[in-house]
Formats: sequence, C-alpha cells, structure tokens
Amino acid sequence: MFWPMAIVRDLNNTKNYPLYTYDGLFTIEEAKKVIEKWKENKDIDVLFEYITDDNKNIVYYNMNIDLGHVQYKRKNVYLNFENANYKEAALNTERVNYENVITAADAFIVLLKDVEYETINTLCIEVAKIIQEEIQSKKINLYVNPYVVYNYINKKIDYPGLNKIVLDQAYKLIDEGKKLGTKTDGKRNASNWIIHCLIEGALMSKLADATGLDADTAMKLGILHDVGRKKDHSFMHTVKGFEYLMDHGLTNESFCTLTHSFSPSLKDGINIGNRCATGDPPIDGFYVNEKGEGVFEKDTILDDVTYFLANYEYNSYDILLNIADLMATSEGIKSPYERIQNIYSKRTPDPRNSSFFKVCVINSLIRFISDINEEEYTPINIRDINSTEEIDNLLLKVSDSFMDNYLNIIKKNTTKRK
Ligand SMILES: [Fe+2]
Repeated sequence: MFWPMAIVRDLNNTKNYPLYTYDGLFTIEEAKKVIEKWKENKDIDVLFEYITDDNKNIVYYNMNIDLGHVQYKRKNVYLNFENANYKEAALNTERVNYENVITAADAFIVLLKDVEYETINTLCIEVAKIIQEEIQSKKINLYVNPYVVYNYINKKIDYPGLNKIVLDQAYKLIDEGKKLGTKTDGKRNASNWIIHCLIEGALMSKLADATGLDADTAMKLGILHDVGRKKDHSFMHTVKGFEYLMDHGLTNESFCTLTHSFSPSLKDGINIGNRCATGDPPIDGFYVNEKGEGVFEKDTILDDVTYFLANYEYNSYDILLNIADLMATSEGIKSPYERIQNIYSKRTPDPRNSSFFKVCVINSLIRFISDINEEEYTPINIRDINSTEEIDNLLLKVSDSFMDNYLNIIKKNTTKRK
C-alpha cells in the first residue's frame, strides 16, 4: 500500500503544510492520481509531491512541477551581453586563474574609477591628509587638496604606493562606522555598494586564509565582484561588471562578476554554475532532473549568462565568493541562513528555484567546513531530501556550524595579531 503525500502552500495565507490522505488503499498509480487532483485545487500550490510505502520510505517524488497558474510567475530576466566580443569571451572560457594578476589595492582603484566625487569625497579628504603629512615631513610646502586624490583615481597621476593608502583609509572609515562620501539619494548613502564590496573583500580574505587560498586574491575578488553596480543596480549588474572589467583589461577577474550571484553545483564531479540566485527565478523551463542537477527543458530560450554558467568550471575562489556575497551586506556580516531568510521575506521565492538554490548553498558551506577541518567532502543530493522544510532545517544546521567555524577563524586571527 502507498501513501500520496505533498508539501503544499496555502495561497490564501501563504503558509506551507504537509498534505496526505488515509482514505483508501492506493497503488502507486492511484496515489499519483490523488496528487494530480490536489494540484487542480486553485487555493493551494503543490511545492513538492511524493509517495511513501507503509514503512514511510519514499518510493516516488517530483520537484519538477508545473507552477504555471500560480503567483510565483515572474518576468524572465534575460542576461545578454551588449555585443559579440563580450559574448565570445565569456562563452569560450571554461576556467580562469584569479591569482597573480593585480592586487586588491589596485582592484580598489578600478572599482572607484568613474564614480562621482561626492560618492567618495570623505575618502579623498582622508587620503589627501596622509599625502599632506608625508609631503610636510619632507619639508616641502605644498597643499594637497582632495581633488588631487580624485584625479589620481580617475586619471592615474603617478604616486607610488597610493593605491594601498586609498584602500587602507577606506577600511579605516568603515571600521569607524563612516561612509566614503556625502552623497545620498535621500535615504541611502551612495557609497553603500562600495562599502558592501569592501566588507566582502575583507571577509573573502579571512575565508581564503583559513582554506589555504591566497588572501589578497580573494580580497580582490570581493572588492571587484559588484563593479557593475556602478552602471546598473538590477540583475544586469553582473553583465555590466563583466563588460567593464573586460574593457579595463582585467580579463580573468571579469569572470567573478558573472559567478558571484549564481550558486555552483556538482555536475559529473565538477562545480558548474547554475542560473539560480537568491530569490530570483531562473528563466522558465528550469527544472531539477533525476540526478539532482539543475537543467532546462528542451526548446528553452537560454540567455548568454545561462550558457556561460553551464560551461564554466567554478574554482575555489568562485565558490567562496558565493558564500561571501550572501553574508556581506553594507552594514556588516550575517549568517547565510539569516541572509536567505531575510531576502525571501522581501520577495516571494520561486519554489522550483529556491529549494535547488538552498541545496547549492548547503553544499558550498559543507565544502568549506570539510576543507578547514580536513574532512572528506560529501555533498547533499536534493533527491535525498523529502521536503522543503527538511531543506530549511538542514540549511539552518549547516549555516550554524559554518558560523561556529567562521567565528573560530576570526578568534584565531585576532590572537595571531596580538
Ligand atoms: Fe555583492
């Protein structure tokens, strides 16, 4: 005898609950028909359907469900490059090496280039003071105004070692809880996105240090990943960032702008990208296949970024960057679980995407925990999970364990410094 089961969402009060029935002795085929009937009910949305035997073993499940009639339907966002050169560069690259190209301090100058003066005037004033002190110590009588620093950033007036001073002063301002400039849009300070990049850079260097990666390379990627926000704050910032760094000759680094928003997952033992980000539905046609991989139905129109992600092998920095981008806000660091809850409280998640996305995050976190504890990494397969609740519980557990490890790293680093 088999039991038809489902996790459903009540569309009237948007609560999830399990649904099952004890009426009748069902064969698997009959149980499937019962579930089909549930799916016709317009008041509920079947998030996950499955059938168990008498011993509660799952004998059938399906996460790939048609949600066409429900409120999750959102406009597809197509992420395409502006021209064939960018497209070719992205689509012909399967892996990159982020190390040994430019330093984090050099990267920060690229991030600041072309932003308005008022967005970073506080920073320019602080850096000008340092230069002034240096000049005065050489007994030269010259006044350095903040525009000199701004011009340096934009036109590259030569001043040895200044990139490092600019980066250090920016971190100093953040540590003091200050912004980088005075410009606001009434509500938000215009330098918030740059502060987010710096916080992510600092976090990246700590995470990298703990896993044996190069801390400065990791910081550089944290700093550069959102460079596209200079031009666009929508999801297109990924594409704009890639194009911007390509234009500036940072061919390798440009790839972090595409990968940071999309979770990696294993396909044939290799971590590839998925068109799967927090709270954003993938384009229609996305589903999770029997092997637990995110794939697309035949005839789905894929955009450039989706094509790129499916053929690009995430390196260890890309995987860390995904974790760091979840944790870093412009205010500070949050746990991955807390951040995901927070994002989903503002947007209705697409269940096809969000379950898969959460399992990707769980696996990246498990990978990190295994790495630093020198344990074998055993990823979770979404097909071994029975319900959306189970995914949430697992995410909370893994996120807590990750945060314990993270706080330990911080503690060790502070004692090292003392
Ligand atoms: Fe970001």
